[in-house]
Amino acid sequence: MTKIAVLVSGGGTNLQALIDAAARDALAGGVLDFVLSSNPDAYALTRAQSAGIDTSVLRRRDFADAEQYGAALDAQLRVRDIGLIVLAGFMTVLPDSFCRKWENKILNVHPSLIPSFCGEGFYGLRVHEAALQKGVKVTGATVHFVSEVVDGGAIILQKAVEVAPDDTPETLQKRVMAQAEHILLPQAVALFCQGRLQVCDGRVQIADECETERSVSND
Ligand code: GAR
Repeated sequence: MTKIAVLVSGGGTNLQALIDAAARDALAGGVLDFVLSSNPDAYALTRAQSAGIDTSVLRRRDFADAEQYGAALDAQLRVRDIGLIVLAGFMTVLPDSFCRKWENKILNVHPSLIPSFCGEGFYGLRVHEAALQKGVKVTGATVHFVSEVVDGGAIILQKAVEVAPDDTPETLQKRVMAQAEHILLPQAVALFCQGRLQVCDGRVQIADECETERSVSND
């Protein structure tokens, strides 16, 4: 059983996708143990409370620097024996020391096909504004491991979504969420919980189910 902490800052539709997947028993033994928000007004907190998940708020502005914020976050996660951290619309950049401590144990969902429209300054609606500005015909979402480089960690899953000629940033965001993010994120969490994600030379290999069963039974 993998205890999962979901870090949020906003509406929490990706958190909801995880809550719904857990209710269908689709997280491969992963348990949504804890939701932490950087924003006390995030609707994601209401979603978590309705699902009976423990919540907490940790505001960046209450700490002198990112290091101290990371240390406080780390302490809360260790106490709960968390095995996987999921960034689901978490808008606070984590310090390098935190990313190193939790190497290959933090997943992030990003609303574009990385390496397009990613990195510092590309978050939420801004990503879709930039995609429309560029005139891309296809965009999508990516779930990746978190490293010290913003949006630069190893890619786990990606899904393409077509851009419509009359899209606004809002309509595109909605479609990318529904057709890609909300599908990919629970899938990636399940793959992690099944022990099927291996990072090799900065790239993720996904073991097929039989392979994982064989290696577990040979241990
Ligand atoms: C999602 O589109 C997520 O991919 C994005 O913020 C939104 C949060 O929505 N995250 C980033 O841009 C991170 N770089 P939600 O709170 O409804 O899940």
